[in-house]
Amino acid sequence: MNSRRTRIYEGKAKILYEGPEPGTVIVHFKDDATAFNAEKKAVIEGKGVLNQRISEYLFSRLNEIGIPTHFIRSLNMREQLVREVEIIPLEVVVRNIAAGSLAKKLGLEEGHVLPRSIIEFYYKNDALGDPMVSEEHITSFGWATPMELDDMMHMAIRINDFMTGLFLGIGIKLVDFKIEFGRLFENDMMRIVLADEISPDSCRLWDTKTLDKMDKDRFRRDMGGLVEAYHEVARRLGIIQPNEQPERSKPKLVKTD
Ligand code: TMP
Repeated sequence: MNSRRTRIYEGKAKILYEGPEPGTVIVHFKDDATAFNAEKKAVIEGKGVLNQRISEYLFSRLNEIGIPTHFIRSLNMREQLVREVEIIPLEVVVRNIAAGSLAKKLGLEEGHVLPRSIIEFYYKNDALGDPMVSEEHITSFGWATPMELDDMMHMAIRINDFMTGLFLGIGIKLVDFKIEFGRLFENDMMRIVLADEISPDSCRLWDTKTLDKMDKDRFRRDMGGLVEAYHEVARRLGIIQPNEQPERSKPKLVKTD
C-alpha cells in the first residue's frame, strides 16, 4: 500500500483514498469481515480481493445495460478507481426470497419465495444500528427527494431483474441484496448513480441445487468456508480461472465481543 496517499475515510470493509485526479477516489477492499453492526469481527484473508473482482464484474455488466455507476476501473486486485459521489445515507435492500431479518421479523421460513420482490430502506447510522425507515421518513427528513427515491427504486428493480437472471444462469439464486447510491455532480448537473459495492458481502446467494450459502451468512452464522464460497461465485461468473486458488482459506478470528 502506498502510504503517501491521503486517506479520506476508513469503513468496516473498505478504505477510501484520494484519487489521482479531482473528483476521483480509490477504494481499497480490506479482508475485514464484520457482522451485527461490527459486534462480530474477523480478518478473512482473500475476501477483499474476491469482493473487488466480483464487484468490478457486476458494476461493469450493470454499466453495459445502462445503469450509471461510480465505477471507473480496477487499479489492482484489491483497489478500484471510482468517481467521487455524495453517498445517500440509505441502504436499499431488495428481497426475492425470505431470509435474514425479514424471515425473523415476520416469522417466515427462510426460503419462502416472496409474492413479489420487496424493496426496503435502512437509514445508514451505526449509532442507531441502521434502522429500517419508510419513504415518508426519507423524504420528510430530506435524506433523498421524492425524485431521487423514484430513481433509486427504478434502478433497484432493474438491478434485481438483471442480477437474478445473471446468477440463475450460473446455478445461483439471488435471495436478496443491499445497494447504495450516490449523487454525482458533473458541471451544473447532478445524477444518482449506483455506488459502494455488490459482492457476496452484500448479497445472499444460494446454490440452486443444494441451497448451500455462498455469501457472508457463512461468517454471520459461523459456518466456515467463506473464501471458498466467494471463490466459487467468482469462478462461476468466469472471473477466476478454474485452476486459480483462493489466496488463503483459514478464517483468523481477531475479536469476538
Ligand atoms: P438482512 O436480512 O440482515 O436485513 O439483510 C438483507 C441483505 O442486505 C442481505 O443480502 C445482506 C445485506 N446487508 C448488508 O449488505 N449490510 C448490512 O449491514 C446488513 C444488515 C445487510
